[in-house]
Amino acid sequence: MQHIKQYVDQNRQRLLDELFALLRFPSVSADPKYKPEVLKTADYVAQKLRDAGADNVEICQTAGYPIVYGEKIIDASKPTVLVYGHYDVQPADPLELWKTPPFEPTIRDGKIYARGACDDKGQFYMHVKAFELMMQTNTLPCNIKFMIEGEEEVGSSNLGIFVKANKEKLKADVVLISDTSMISMEHPSLETGLRGLSYLEVEVTGPNRDLHSGVYGGAVANPITILTKMIASLHDENNHITIPGFYDKVIPLTAEERTALNNAPYDEEEYKKDLDIAEVWGEKGYTTFERTGTRPTLEVNGIWGGYIGEGAKTVLPSKAHAKISMRLVPNQTSDAITELFTKHFLSIAPANVKVKVTPHHGGEPAVTPTDSIAYRAAQKAIAESFGKDPIPTRGGGSIPIVALFEAELGLKTVLMGFGLDSDALHSPNEKYDIFNYYKGIETIPLFHKYFAELSSAV
Ligand code: BES
Ligand code: MN
Ligand code: MN
Repeated sequence: MQHIKQYVDQNRQRLLDELFALLRFPSVSADPKYKPEVLKTADYVAQKLRDAGADNVEICQTAGYPIVYGEKIIDASKPTVLVYGHYDVQPADPLELWKTPPFEPTIRDGKIYARGACDDKGQFYMHVKAFELMMQTNTLPCNIKFMIEGEEEVGSSNLGIFVKANKEKLKADVVLISDTSMISMEHPSLETGLRGLSYLEVEVTGPNRDLHSGVYGGAVANPITILTKMIASLHDENNHITIPGFYDKVIPLTAEERTALNNAPYDEEEYKKDLDIAEVWGEKGYTTFERTGTRPTLEVNGIWGGYIGEGAKTVLPSKAHAKISMRLVPNQTSDAITELFTKHFLSIAPANVKVKVTPHHGGEPAVTPTDSIAYRAAQKAIAESFGKDPIPTRGGGSIPIVALFEAELGLKTVLMGFGLDSDALHSPNEKYDIFNYYKGIETIPLFHKYFAELSSAV
């Protein structure tokens, strides 16, 4: 498509500068100290939607951070695409591991390094710019609505309320999201599923105060030792999760599904090299793709307790803590799994400690159809701009809104992500390839074009 390439070429630097401006906002939703910055980010996004040509742009207040909405309705009889993304980012910690500061975007080796470069500022902003392109070149073929939220990285807990209260406003034919990964630029792919999530925090209390580890050590249970033993017992020798009932609802994949998944290119040596690990790990009987895309898992996200300052302090701590999350697959539900975990974790606690389990947030798993008009449109768009058919994959991450859109609005989603798993999402030195950014801006208008064309053909 000549006009697309031409527009991107003529605006190359500005398209990048605007993303850089967006990346400079430290919109960390998890940490209240960034609140003013998160709110400023919402303002910036709203302004950019207006500039691009959106109507009825609104900063919709919620009990938490606002949702930025905007739309362009060209013809009520045409199909409508609802674009979802998030302007909030993960905390940048640990700061000392960043080669350049997380909120000063820097280009190295053709890649943009910044927190949020890929997840999700770089990716949702491609949609804003693709929309601008379609407006400027008079090629917007369908109606478009934007819903860019600011609490995705903390569980989107106010989003359900917003969606329920704004069903008319959000009415659309499909949801389009770029917040997932591709296998590689040589092997473009489309994710067709996301895992759910159940996240909780545990606290193990031993004695009523920190004790001298010499005076009491050996006679009183150390809550850190107890907690680590309890955590270790959550996987058996085959790395199966030991919580009773945990797998009961999991629907096993058919042999065909497994074959299809494992047909996707995967180089274990590359995978290990990238992470500098000698061996992969996981549930016995499953491949890496199956483990991350189709099996439920349990991870310890953080663990702390006792003395962790400079030097040495001899102490038998009163408390130990951990943040634990479980990734869920279709048919498991976050509430039920949270309950199973809680019951089990309390039941394995020895009598010498007290255990408290506090749920954080959750999200339901989702699978997206591969036989829909929208999926076909995404396939055609990618095939045209990459010169290769996309490979369907299952993503390991979670985007809770996908299941919510389906439950509340009956809407299916297309996950057209342009990131790479190696883009260091949630890690230090997060990056996004400039090539992918422009490629996304070029591919998105093709999606809209084919979606409108294929929709009018039925
Ligand atoms: N964009 C990610 C999810 C993702 C990443 C899906 C890569 C597929 C491939 C999203 O921002 C995210 O990080 N979600 C959280 C869940 C949320 C409830 C905190 C996650 O997956 O940990
Ligand atoms: Mn994201
Ligand atoms: Mn994320």
